[in-house]
Amino acid sequence: MNVVILAAGMGKRMQSALPKVLHPLAGKPLLRHVIDTASSLSPSKLCVIYGHGGAAVPEMVGKLAEQTGTQIDTALQQPQLGTGHAVMQAVPQLDESVPTLVLYGDVPLTTSASLGRLVEAAGTDKLAILTVEQANPFGLGRIVRENGSIVRIVEEKDASEAERAIREINSGIMCIPTAHLKRWLATLSNNNAQGEYYLTDIVAQAVADGVPVVSAQPSAEWEVAGVNSKVQLAELERRHQLNIANALLEKGVTLMDPARIDVRGELVCGRDVVIDVGCVFEGRVELADGVTVGPHCVLVNAKIGAGAQIKPFCHIEDAVVGDKSQIGPYARLRPGTELGEDVHVGNFVEIKNSQVAAHSKANHLAYVGDATVGSRVNIGAGTITCNYDGANKFRTVIEDDAFIGSDSQLVAPVTVGKGATLGAGTTLTKDAPAGKLTISRPKQMTIEGWSRPVKTKK
Ligand code: UD1
Ligand code: CA
Repeated sequence: MNVVILAAGMGKRMQSALPKVLHPLAGKPLLRHVIDTASSLSPSKLCVIYGHGGAAVPEMVGKLAEQTGTQIDTALQQPQLGTGHAVMQAVPQLDESVPTLVLYGDVPLTTSASLGRLVEAAGTDKLAILTVEQANPFGLGRIVRENGSIVRIVEEKDASEAERAIREINSGIMCIPTAHLKRWLATLSNNNAQGEYYLTDIVAQAVADGVPVVSAQPSAEWEVAGVNSKVQLAELERRHQLNIANALLEKGVTLMDPARIDVRGELVCGRDVVIDVGCVFEGRVELADGVTVGPHCVLVNAKIGAGAQIKPFCHIEDAVVGDKSQIGPYARLRPGTELGEDVHVGNFVEIKNSQVAAHSKANHLAYVGDATVGSRVNIGAGTITCNYDGANKFRTVIEDDAFIGSDSQLVAPVTVGKGATLGAGTTLTKDAPAGKLTISRPKQMTIEGWSRPVKTKK
């Protein structure tokens, strides 16, 4: 099968410099949703028609093709003279021995199951149209039937009063025998209300040529909903998120409110996972059995171990959290953080590019960067690894069972030995030996006879 994706339109109503089909839905460009769905049908040819937005669209397509190792062609449509004219740009690339499926780059949520049914209905010798009955069909092409059979499609602007009353609409998605398509496109005219070459005119041509015209229906109306404005984009985003939430619920995940979760990537959950309201998941996130995620957390490319608790307001990115760990509230785990089992990271603690082994704790107000922390280590409030001298970064090593007193600065590169204790307020510039108390603190003194200054009268 050939797939042609129409994505040359300008999307004026988006009021944006970004081409319409590159606006993200669930964190992924609209066009990418369509390409991903098309790819799931294993087409032998995939061609994207672009126009508005300059090089941005073919650049995105090129990158995607490289990433996924698939062949995706692009063809420029300039100027944009209608949907029929758009498909004409792909003609040289279309293999006549297989049918051609036409998709729209701004209709992101069509399922592969519905497209499969359409392709099936078309077979090798029929024209199949994905149609839907709509309560408000205004602005869309209407499916005109005689004795139940489709005879043509009429656009809103060309329709008679009676035709405008038809509620079965053309989604725009069609599957067409390719040799016929090429012939029909060659004879399209733009003699209509909009002066455009309508792809929809091939339907009457098929009927005239005795080619059967059939229809298939999607499982839901949102599958054929297009994006023309930010309002429609926002509506489809919510629809899509609700679909994702329902799929998670079906798998046994507890969502405190399925209307208040956003998944912009892939969220994989074990059994008995609980997710509170307002959480955002980006990239690939794995939550193992029994994980709870408190309200308003952001997790990006993260792996959370079984039984771990993520308390409210945490930000976790490119990080691994061990089983039964407790994170937050208000914790930040930055890229390269790897926490072992039962690690506690409390409020206002930031960890970056560090490994922290089992049962260690940093419960309050700390920065741990470029550090290797052993097991059962206690990092007191206000501890900072000074990992950066303004030019280069250095590592801090804290060995098993060490105790770091509050408000200590560990000036890297430095090592705290196994079982060592640092007194509160220590500025550690040399290694602290294992098993001993190290402290850097001026002796406390009290000045006798001192009195506070008093305000002088003017
Ligand atoms: C088209 C259909 C209409 C259908 C509707 C569904 C025609 C003539 N009409 O309407 O029957 O109900 O879609 O939304 O086909 N595009 C190009 N190049 C162009 C024009 C459009 O690539 O020159 C692309 C757009 O980017 C968009 C798609 O084709 O992805 C549909 O274009 P749009 O203008 O939204 O649809 P209409 O022509 O109004
Ligand atoms: Ca449209």
